Amino acid sequence: MVFPGKTETAAPSATDAPRSDDVVLTGDRPTGTLHLGHYAGSLSTRVALQGRCVQTLLIADLQALTDTTDRPSGLGPAQVAAHVEQVALDYLAAGIDPALTHIAVQSRLPALAELTVLYLNLVTVARLERNPTVKAEIELRGFARDLPAGFLCYPVSQAADITGFRATLVPVGDDQLPMIEQTNEVARRVNRLAGAPIVPECRALLSATPRLPGVDGRKASKSLGNAIPLGAAGDDIRRLVRAMYTDPGHVRASDPGQVEGNVVFAYLDAFDPDTDAVTELKAQYRRGGLGDSVLKRRLEDLLEETVAPMRERRGKLAGDRGYVRDVLRKGTESAGRVTRSVLGAVRQAFALGE
Ligand code: TRP
Repeated sequence: MVFPGKTETAAPSATDAPRSDDVVLTGDRPTGTLHLGHYAGSLSTRVALQGRCVQTLLIADLQALTDTTDRPSGLGPAQVAAHVEQVALDYLAAGIDPALTHIAVQSRLPALAELTVLYLNLVTVARLERNPTVKAEIELRGFARDLPAGFLCYPVSQAADITGFRATLVPVGDDQLPMIEQTNEVARRVNRLAGAPIVPECRALLSATPRLPGVDGRKASKSLGNAIPLGAAGDDIRRLVRAMYTDPGHVRASDPGQVEGNVVFAYLDAFDPDTDAVTELKAQYRRGGLGDSVLKRRLEDLLEETVAPMRERRGKLAGDRGYVRDVLRKGTESAGRVTRSVLGAVRQAFALGE
């Protein structure tokens, strides 16, 4: 018998190296185009995993609807729908190869929706309210009593995403660790109900790069205009790097400056392959004698080098919507096969027949 109210000892959200038999799944909400923070935090990991493991990227449009449908945020269903192809373009621009990685659209996979409905019977409202990510997001959005039930329950839908692909490895930011933990609770309950391990538990794969701030030092976000898009033009890169928050106490180049909280150094740490040079620059900056403009010029060149090939690929593909749609159709078809087979097993566990 399943008791959703009983808390189980949570398995540690292990984060360890990928294995060749891992099934990798990760997703993004299509609420905006992707930026360099996404690249440093997770996209580059996904590019590196290609060909080493079976991998799917899920464009989570249903999840995006849970906080955009009835809000005055400016984003509504039409924008979410429009961003599905934009996110796919960003993936391809960043180097995701559809021959090695499936790109699938969540709302076109009805098995995931049905899994979510079944899983809702295995989770309590109290447990969802305790999920630290959900709690923080509810506060951030100021939902109070107007909390959409779909938003409160999106961790269950994410558990359906992850188990629906039989995923064992999920590359995410640390804000998603509570989702992994809750997914594994659901997986254990499903398996107990089935009397057999029909879905695997999963591990998070955390990025080595800490979360990149926006150019103003606040959280990077499309709506704040403080993030550098993957397809940014050279002029925009320069403008955004020049606007980067450094150390307000570092007025003259000769003044000693602070490296902590300095956005330019956060980006150099994430993108400059010459780590010895960055260490030396930090020491020099702390001592005094290194101006912001010298540092910013180095970063501008580096980011231009990183973004240029992505901008070029993005530009080419943006003119070929038929190709992008084809990639999504094929990726979603293949995802349909896996998710339907998992749903069959879960339906049996609920005595519903395949
Ligand atoms: N919640 C994730 C985010 O906001 C997006 C997401 C949806 C996801 N489904 C997923 C991530 C499955 C990993 C696995 O970024």
